Amino acid sequence: MNKHLESGLLKQLNREFHSAYIYLGMSSYCTDKDLNGFANWLFVQYEEEQVHAMKIYKYLLQRGVTVELDSISKPVSDFSSILDLFKKALAHEEFMTLSFNELSDVAMEHRDHATYNFLQWFVNEQVEEESIFQEIISKIERVESNSQALYMLDRELENRTLQVQA
Ligand code: FEO
Repeated sequence: MNKHLESGLLKQLNREFHSAYIYLGMSSYCTDKDLNGFANWLFVQYEEEQVHAMKIYKYLLQRGVTVELDSISKPVSDFSSILDLFKKALAHEEFMTLSFNELSDVAMEHRDHATYNFLQWFVNEQVEEESIFQEIISKIERVESNSQALYMLDRELENRTLQVQA
């Protein structure tokens, strides 16, 4: 594999683990605020990000790349509200989308069609992720000042379980 593309994928592997870490921290924040449904939803997101990371990890091994793991930086933890938390999560997902698009450009530039195809799964997944975070932000904005409605939304988010995608 081209060295530039290889280092980009290794960086992306680290970003997925960092994403997992971000959502675990967010889940912990929600537990602390007695928002257990939000905490569950974000914990499932943490699990999902680990699945994403392992998908990249396995692909790198399959392509004969030596995977040297990097340290995972401290996740964001200063949230002024649940709305602020989800806005930060959406901004993070937008950043992830950008990085997958850039990596796809590099794969195309080096005519690595297999890696380009591999990355398109993530490109599509990002559309879904951004949309789901946007949907939750809209719901929070509608109910934020009504504690009963926020409680109902919290209950709704309690039902999320990990769906492992192909
Ligand atoms: Fe795996 Fe939410 O990016």
